[in-house]
This record gives sequence, C-alpha cells and structure tokens, in this order.
Amino acid sequence: MPTPHNNAKKGDIAETVIMPGDPLRAKFIAENYLENPVCYNEVRGMYGYTGTYKNKRVSVQGSGMGMPSMAIYSWELFSEYEVKNIIRTGTAGAVSDNVNLRDIIIAMSASTNSAYASQYNLPGTYAPTASWELLSNAVKVTENKGTDFHVGNIFSSDTFYDDADSLAKWKKMGVLGIEMETAALYMNAARAGKNALCILTVSDCPLKNLSTTAEERQSGFRNMMEIALETAVRI
Ligand code: HPA
Repeated sequence: MPTPHNNAKKGDIAETVIMPGDPLRAKFIAENYLENPVCYNEVRGMYGYTGTYKNKRVSVQGSGMGMPSMAIYSWELFSEYEVKNIIRTGTAGAVSDNVNLRDIIIAMSASTNSAYASQYNLPGTYAPTASWELLSNAVKVTENKGTDFHVGNIFSSDTFYDDADSLAKWKKMGVLGIEMETAALYMNAARAGKNALCILTVSDCPLKNLSTTAEERQSGFRNMMEIALETAVRI
C-alpha cells in the first residue's frame, strides 16, 4: 500500500534496503551499481529504486536528514513493505581522537539526545543497537578492503549546529563519531523485530575544524557503498 511518503506498491521493495541520507546518492547508487534499477518512489524527491547487485535483489532509498525523517521512512519500510534489513550509509563527524578523516565507522550502538525513545514509556534508558548479523558481516567485508575502520558507539544528535557544544562530553564517554539518524533507525528496527546497521565515512572533524574535499567524500562514499552492497549480498 502506498503511504503519504512512499508511492511503492507491496512487492516493489527488496528485503534489504540501503539508505543514504541524500536521495540523489540513492539515484547515483542505483544508476552506477544496480542492474535493471526501477524507481519506485519520487514523492518529495525521496528517490527509491530496486534492482539487483551480484544477482541479489536490493533496494536503495534516501532517508533525509535527522531522526524524524529517517524514522518515517524506515518505519514505513519495515511495517508496510515487509523490509527485513536496512543498512544506513552516511557521513559523520569524528569525535574520538582515534578517528580520522575518511575512516569508516560501523555503529555498534547509537547514543542520542533525541526524545525518540520516550514514546515507548520504558522505565529506564534504552540502548539502540545494531543487528549482530549485519554488523558481523559488514566487519568481515570491511576487513578485506584495507580501509581503516572502527566499530563502536556513535552519537545521533538532533542538532548539526550545536549551540552548547556537547561533543567534548560525548568524547569522554568513548563515542567515535556524530551523525543525526541512527538511534531512531535502530529503535524502529528493534520495535519492528527487524535488522538495522549504520556504516559511516568520516567527512569532518568538528573538534579540530577539519573537513574532507568533495573529491575525497566521493571516493570514501564509493568505498562505503561497496561495503554496504557486499554486506547485503551476504545476508
Ligand atoms: N554533526 C552531525 N552530523 C554530521 C556531522 C557533524 O559534524 N558530520 C556529518 N554528519
């Protein structure tokens, strides 16, 4: 059934969906990596495509920026379209001193300042966590790539421009990087009984005022996409 945000019909979307934040990245992946890609959504420009990669049926769709946007699209994929696995591919700011520009971060867990978990009325603090099956497969694929990578806790923030600069405090807790979507994705997956993973490339170091060039972002992005697609083939 189409939703207010997605025109796809049941069956149009594969069991595994790769979700970059930027819908134009989804279009790029479909056109450059998938065989026979078919566009299933253009509502609000949030492109979604289904095709095959190494004979595996895979979809790729934008999530938009921030947890509310990611939460809408991923919840609909899980609950309306029988999607089983969502792999987010995004960019992050480095928080830990051990994380450098262009490194890959595989998010084992996602701390957050979002109120997203309040809807569950839990009597404590929920820990949004990746799917072990997706995580362990992504680690195996990344080990074969020779790229520097880190696996651990990230911070999903509601703010990109943070007035209070809370990053130093998250750094003390061993957080690797900052982005804006993963905690909601992991909570949706848990609530729906499905699987999710987030793979990030480090595009900037906000604590050191460093950022990658457009060209570096593009090649880092290709590396990350290949890791996500190879992980999708293995599950
Ligand atoms: N903050 C939040 N999200 C991000 C950043 C950042 O510094 N870099 C890439 N995504």
